[in-house]
Amino acid sequence: MAQTWTPNSWRQKPIQQVPDYPDLAALAATEAKLAKYPPLVFAGEARRLKSALANVAEGRGFLLQGGDCAESFAEHGADTIRDFFRAFLQMAVVLTFGAQQPVVKVGRIAGQFAKPRSSNIEKQGDVELPSYRGDIINGIEFTEAERVPDPERQIMAYRQSAATLNLLRAFAMGGYANLDNVHQWMLGFVKDSPQAERYRKLADRISETMDFMKAIGITSENHPSLRETDFFTSHEALLLGYEQALTRVDSTSGDWYATSGHMIWIGDRTRQPDHAHIEYCRGIKNPLGLKCGPSLTADGLLELIDLLNPANEAGRLTLICRFGHDKVAEHLPRLIRAVEREGKKVVWSCDPMHGNTITLNNYKTRPFERILSEVESFFQIHRAEGSHPGGIHIEMTGNDVTECTGGARALSGDDLADRYHTHCDPRLNADQALELAFLLAERMKGGRDEKKLVVNG
Ligand code: TRP
Ligand code: MN
Repeated sequence: MAQTWTPNSWRQKPIQQVPDYPDLAALAATEAKLAKYPPLVFAGEARRLKSALANVAEGRGFLLQGGDCAESFAEHGADTIRDFFRAFLQMAVVLTFGAQQPVVKVGRIAGQFAKPRSSNIEKQGDVELPSYRGDIINGIEFTEAERVPDPERQIMAYRQSAATLNLLRAFAMGGYANLDNVHQWMLGFVKDSPQAERYRKLADRISETMDFMKAIGITSENHPSLRETDFFTSHEALLLGYEQALTRVDSTSGDWYATSGHMIWIGDRTRQPDHAHIEYCRGIKNPLGLKCGPSLTADGLLELIDLLNPANEAGRLTLICRFGHDKVAEHLPRLIRAVEREGKKVVWSCDPMHGNTITLNNYKTRPFERILSEVESFFQIHRAEGSHPGGIHIEMTGNDVTECTGGARALSGDDLADRYHTHCDPRLNADQALELAFLLAERMKGGRDEKKLVVNG
């Protein structure tokens, strides 16, 4: 029997990845302050996302989820947000038009600040300091003072999230995302981008379609769906004190919601069924993500599904699989079979980033070929098992960084030093992200044509 849940019942459970705050009274004061601040998102929006994800779980649609590994205070600015949103819209339009499926758009943004770490300590030379845990907790600079967890950072993260979300809402609803603008989103391309020509051709076809619709009376003025898009936010629910402070009762339904973001996910390191992170997440009604790595057994997964989605509601749970290009064939089929056998409704999403990290020239990087290879395998395996490859979860930026090697511009290990800006893991740059979107669209289309063949045959 599940015990009574409250927003703070997680505090009775064992917990991983907790920062060592030196001043617990200051931490409590900060949490009390946050608990009075306005919610960042609304329950009705989270329900809307859940029903969009329910369609994906039923095989109608695709989840595009992406953004920084870790947002940072230093890079907070209108240009960074716009560049990300533009790259994200380009991907979305390629997927929607190319694959002719609705795309559910979820950013890793406006709250993605806390990072789980494999070690509590970072060593440089002879000096040992506490690891960096994300700007919401401590500073990235390798000094003793910066690495002390500071509760005040939670307030800054909250305010940055609010400002970021405000701009994203304006972009999504205020005209920037209007399909009449597909050509304008090209302005961000770097010179000689191999994806630019491909994108321009697709944008031409969309414009032509829009012109046709205009001729028959359907315009972006009289059809909001042509000029607006639903854009949702998500982050890893790692720092539970912060999450608890922003957990609120929805007056319409009487249910508890995390109001720090529309969707939150549980990391591969914090998914112990009897621990705090699962306890917190099971009680809130937002759509949830669960990261699934190689150590997750089929029975372990079923146990977690029962805890997180006891009513087996479609759209509640997204399984974000991150095995690595060389391990996905070993692990994904057994999880799919267990879930299918038990009739559990989930969205299957592929995180091709986290299992494919290597070190090259002292940089953490990810070869683009391996990312593509894990995505390819993900699609093939789902086709073979008869399940729906429902989404992708990526670390990306709208800027021209050099963090992942490969791609059409063939970034090498020697290029990494040029523009390596990430605060944590290496991200796809705008070009690489778009290249991935074109590949995804082809695979999704392939699956649809195959289904048609079966129906017609
Ligand atoms: N409203 C639709 C959607 O979000 C169509 C749309 C409007 C769109 N602007 C967009 C699609 C930008 C992709 C990108 O799907
Ligand atoms: Mn990461």
